[in-house]
Amino acid sequence: MTSKQTDVVKREFAKQAGGFREPGLTLARADYLNWMVENLGLESHHSVLDVAAGTGHLSRAMAPHVAHVTAFDLTPEMLAQARALANAEGLDNIEFAEGNAERLPFEAGSFDRVVTRFAVHHFADPRVQVGEMARVCNPDGRVAVIDMVAPDDPALAESYNRLERQRDPSHTWAFTAADLVALVAGAGLRPVSTESREIEVNTGNWFDLTKTPAADRESILQEMAAEIDGGSESGMRSFRRDGEIFFMQTWVIVVGARAGG
Ligand SMILES: C[S@@+](CC[C@H](N)C(=O)[O-])C[C@H]1O[C@@H](n2cnc3c(N)ncnc32)[C@H](O)[C@@H]1O
Repeated sequence: MTSKQTDVVKREFAKQAGGFREPGLTLARADYLNWMVENLGLESHHSVLDVAAGTGHLSRAMAPHVAHVTAFDLTPEMLAQARALANAEGLDNIEFAEGNAERLPFEAGSFDRVVTRFAVHHFADPRVQVGEMARVCNPDGRVAVIDMVAPDDPALAESYNRLERQRDPSHTWAFTAADLVALVAGAGLRPVSTESREIEVNTGNWFDLTKTPAADRESILQEMAAEIDGGSESGMRSFRRDGEIFFMQTWVIVVGARAGG
């Protein structure tokens, strides 16, 4: 299946793949990954599916705790990095699969845990992918959706998502925390926990990862600077430190259980 959004994702993440190996990457930070792993209730016999696994940061963090991880992604360049990084770490219980999460190529009930991290905001209609995640999760299993969330105020959410899309055209829509819980519940899962964490983001690193063109960087930074200097809110919660512009993200983990999970 191919759609305009899958083409955009493949194009943007082919460009971004190398940046996901940068040592200073927020998405690769061990303390954040440990926080996520701790919230997934992993057991040593588990078989786990990481949907839209990218370069496999979460897959590699989970692998030592479980029997097997399948890292599934649309973008071959991201999976190539994932394979290389898993090999470099000597992890031999991760399998890699390329495809579109709109239709997961797995039997119903195949996995004990089905997770996705920082991908919902790249899906055109996440109900499709999260529905698939619920389908391939076994009846005693759990599904976890991890993402950054937008402000609750609809006008600020609109502005936040507009700026994210300007920075990265593959961004569709970041949900609010409440909408992420509703997304999980809408897939027939029982929400069992919601955890959140505030993360500081340096705009230089943020733009470097997505290779945002200079004109777009400049215009986004102007809006953030105006907000810091008392202008209208952008939804980014921007601030300045040592002459550099930062902003705040809220990361949320929503875990939903199948009937017996
Ligand atoms: C921001 S990256 C996150 C990667 C990884 N989950 C992480 O947290 O480090 C988003 C990933 O979603 C993948 N992706 C987006 N839409 C997809 C789809 N429909 N099916 C499979 N993968 C998808 C992209 O290829 C990309 O690797």
